[in-house]
Amino acid sequence: MPRGTDAPVKIRDDFLPLSRPALDEEEEAAVVRSLRSGWITSGPRVAELEGIFREATGAPHAVAVASATAGLHIVLAALGIGPGDEVVTPSLTFASTVNQVVLRGATPVFAECDYGTLQVLPGALAARITPRTKAVIPVHFAGAPADLDPIRAAADRNGIPLIEDAAHAVGTVYKGVPAGGPPRPGAAGNIAIFSFHPIKNITTAEGGMVTCYDDALAARLRLLRFHGIERDAWKRYGKGGTPHYDIREPGYKYNLSDLHAAIGVVQMRKVAGLNARRAELARRYAAGLSGVPGIDPPETVPYPHAHSWHLFIVKVTGVERDAFIASLAERNVGVGLHFPPCHLLAYVRERFGTREGDLPNTERAGRRIVSLPLFPGMTDGDVDYVCEAVREILAGGSG
Ligand SMILES: Cc1ncc(COP(=O)(O)O)c(C=O)c1O
Repeated sequence: MPRGTDAPVKIRDDFLPLSRPALDEEEEAAVVRSLRSGWITSGPRVAELEGIFREATGAPHAVAVASATAGLHIVLAALGIGPGDEVVTPSLTFASTVNQVVLRGATPVFAECDYGTLQVLPGALAARITPRTKAVIPVHFAGAPADLDPIRAAADRNGIPLIEDAAHAVGTVYKGVPAGGPPRPGAAGNIAIFSFHPIKNITTAEGGMVTCYDDALAARLRLLRFHGIERDAWKRYGKGGTPHYDIREPGYKYNLSDLHAAIGVVQMRKVAGLNARRAELARRYAAGLSGVPGIDPPETVPYPHAHSWHLFIVKVTGVERDAFIASLAERNVGVGLHFPPCHLLAYVRERFGTREGDLPNTERAGRRIVSLPLFPGMTDGDVDYVCEAVREILAGGSG
């Protein structure tokens, strides 16, 4: 039972981190098998993981990459996005998206989010599309889906691609359709990019996956991820392969190794169970924090969906946010900050003239958000401990 606020929380001995990957003997065994197989870079395990993503999303193409950031880079390159072009994305996202747009020489344009759900506002995103806009990149924030229907309608009206930032969205479903999936059976869906960073719903240590529907785009992504060479080393050096190659366009070195992919294959077998546990923990947090003054739990998006519960983000209103974070740290609880608004990052302000006041919801949320620990290996007792700590800090008033 939660204690009253007059009884201080006994500080736990061990540190409760924001996240810890859910890995066990199965992943270990898969890595050892791959190590001993004689082929450790991109090969059969990468092909297997790509097949799993084709099946999970319904997309005909899945291209494994070294990270979601690498995936985004080659998608922007393959779409020919460069100087003079604009890309619309929420400001409340990871800087990697904005960095990649800028590194291509293009201009990021920021759309406002809903303060309650933290999802990008489709109307705000559509309003920022101009004749220079070459793509829109909504984010399935924290694991709840962005409202894709109106965003897709706006992208289609303007004849530009929609790239789902599905870094938080392995297991996320929007109106019955998985992230990266087709809106109707047989229809073409969007380009989607998933992340396998250790904090994410599944991990490969580092890694990512791009799914898409266009054969030519998929072929281009495969070239760009590996030097511009058409056939993987696996095919060139395997039995029956030929070692010759030619390059028509220089590419990057963004392939995923089989050692990493082997972990991902096992993780994808477990993902439904891992996400179910995340959802249980999120429900426990919501119950434990319900009615606590000075903190707003995450709001639910108003359309049918399945939440992957990548993150549990609260907004602290009762005390100063950084004092709240420090007080949790004193109680041995780690937290995250997802994310400092991108339009206020120093280089973005400097280069693009963005400033405080541009996006009031994003900025208000940006000052208050804190991601609480959430990972499948957490116990119910861990959640109760955090809830009690939060109540105590907020009851203290100053943090
Ligand atoms: C919204 C979002 N997009 C993209 C990324 C980039 O993912 P990766 O670390 O795999 O490059 C992240 C990673 O944290 C993210 O949170």
